Amino acid sequence: MKIEGKDCRALWFEDGTLKFIDQRKLPYKLEIYTAKTVDDVAFAIKDMVVRGAPAIGAAATYGMVLGVNDLKNTAEKLRKTRPTAYDLFYAVDFMVSKIKDGGDALDAANNYVEDLIDRCRRIGENGEELIKEGMKILTHCNAGALATVDYGTALAPFYIAHRKGKKFFVYADETRPRCQGLLTDWELTQEGIDHAVIADNAAGHFMKNGEIDMVITGADRIVSNGDFANKIGTYEKAVLAKENNIPFYVAAPISTFDKTIKSGDEIIIEERGRDELAIINNCKIMPDYTKVKNPAFDVTPAEYVTGYITEEKITKKLE
Ligand code: MRU
Repeated sequence: MKIEGKDCRALWFEDGTLKFIDQRKLPYKLEIYTAKTVDDVAFAIKDMVVRGAPAIGAAATYGMVLGVNDLKNTAEKLRKTRPTAYDLFYAVDFMVSKIKDGGDALDAANNYVEDLIDRCRRIGENGEELIKEGMKILTHCNAGALATVDYGTALAPFYIAHRKGKKFFVYADETRPRCQGLLTDWELTQEGIDHAVIADNAAGHFMKNGEIDMVITGADRIVSNGDFANKIGTYEKAVLAKENNIPFYVAAPISTFDKTIKSGDEIIIEERGRDELAIINNCKIMPDYTKVKNPAFDVTPAEYVTGYITEEKITKKLE
């Protein structure tokens, strides 16, 4: 990812500590959060200093490095941070197996992250073929470099297409309550990709008026039958896309595919706190008596998916 023209990653290991771009502060401030212990990493995942399924997985690999002397408890602590994104569990299992086989923990984490970045780049190359000159494309949440260390999943095809000189326009859903759409806005601004943020409930209007030619989102967990969990609001965008005959693609690397679960009904959906809805930028937008419900993800059935963009290929149906 480019920040002020310079190459940068969402997280990196330096001098025995894990550094993150603090995503709680963006787009208003570019601050670095330093995790010195596994507890710091667990906090960073829970509090969403780092977020996005592949980036959470990457953070967990370095969390395992910091807590390598107490492997069982470290793995347990990290697994308990957030329940929905499969990458977290995939990454912890990867590290446990490498360390038990006698591998060096830091080498294993570095290899995991380099491999992830390469997979995201390949997702971008595969998905880029779908982007035709002049297209208008909707995305939801943030599935860019911030969410994956570099390149992104849903945004990777945009980066590759843009670097090849293709002209297209991106609609970024604001994605309440945490407004990850502003992270997408920030990333696309850094890369100079033409786009606009829209309110979450505006997507149907643009689809019905022929303003959207394709939807690409990321995923937090894709299960055996092709159902997938992603940021709350994804399901309704998929239904609207089908109603308006708009192709709907999901972009994700292998670490997001959970073969242990058969159907989306079995995915655990994280419920987050009241303040995410009730407070914006330190400003209360609801009275104290207001009760809220705040599921962080929803499940979209496979029947709404036109194709899955992976590092290997674009697949119509999951076997
Ligand atoms: O709660 P978040 O911000 O971690 O949720 C992130 C998403 O839902 C992303 O769309 C998903 O992880 C794909 S990111 C490549």
